Amino acid sequence: MNPTATPVHVAIIMDGNGRWARQRMMPRQAGHRAGVRAARAVVEACARRGISHLSLFAFSSENWRRPQREVGALMRLFLEALEREVDELHGNGVRLRFIGDRSSLSAELQARMAAAEERTRDNARLVLVVALAYGGRWDIAQAARALADDVAAGELAPDQVDEAHLAQRLALAGMPDPDLLIRTGGEHRISNFLLWNLAYSECWFTDCLWPDFGEAELDAALARFAAVERRFGLTSEQLVAEEGEDAC
Ligand code: IPE
Ligand code: IPE
Ligand code: MG
Repeated sequence: MNPTATPVHVAIIMDGNGRWARQRMMPRQAGHRAGVRAARAVVEACARRGISHLSLFAFSSENWRRPQREVGALMRLFLEALEREVDELHGNGVRLRFIGDRSSLSAELQARMAAAEERTRDNARLVLVVALAYGGRWDIAQAARALADDVAAGELAPDQVDEAHLAQRLALAGMPDPDLLIRTGGEHRISNFLLWNLAYSECWFTDCLWPDFGEAELDAALARFAAVERRFGLTSEQLVAEEGEDAC
């Protein structure tokens, strides 16, 4: 148990916008707009708590199969949110990064994403990763393809392909793996989020619908995280012995 542990990297599957809207007899789109407001608040709350990396799942590879009207509305919302929020994020020391299959997004959205990344690239308070048109399987497949290209070009031998090389080609290359995964909306599944990087993340599932997620829910997840023993395959006794060594 480590009561002071704050995760370095928190990942969130922001689910439940549609149900939140339905409960209020509103269109799903209103739920997505409320979801953007909740996302804005959680970025600031994480930064204030000393969390240095936050990854938000905004749109999955599979979400393309939703009704065209909803997909179109979501894409417009992403464009608007980028236009509206980047100044403030930049002012608050947030570095923006996007992961996902950019080629599937409109040229306008791609251009704004690239501009936001460029503008905020030197910020160091919090790295905000937004997963847009992202799928964990897409990520692993594109990493495998990049390694195959390296092998074909003679820059890498097949027997050099290992976990470290593959990790270097994933969308989150160079970033720490998420310590804590939060999923709102009541489902207990990963829905093709960061399949590789979540291997040893602590998972926190809550029935809270994403637009209702706030500081109280975040703190409940963080408290649970601080109380849990992360063993990474070792035994409790080994961890206690290691702590003793570290203290020496
Ligand atoms: C999450 O909320 C947002 C996206 C997947 C884009 P949902 O739209 O999935 O909301 P529910 O699960 O239908 O309530
Ligand atoms: C996961 O939510 C994707 C995002 C939050 C962007 P979904 O609503 O798409 O997940 P499923 O379909 O319930 O698994
Ligand atoms: Mg959902």
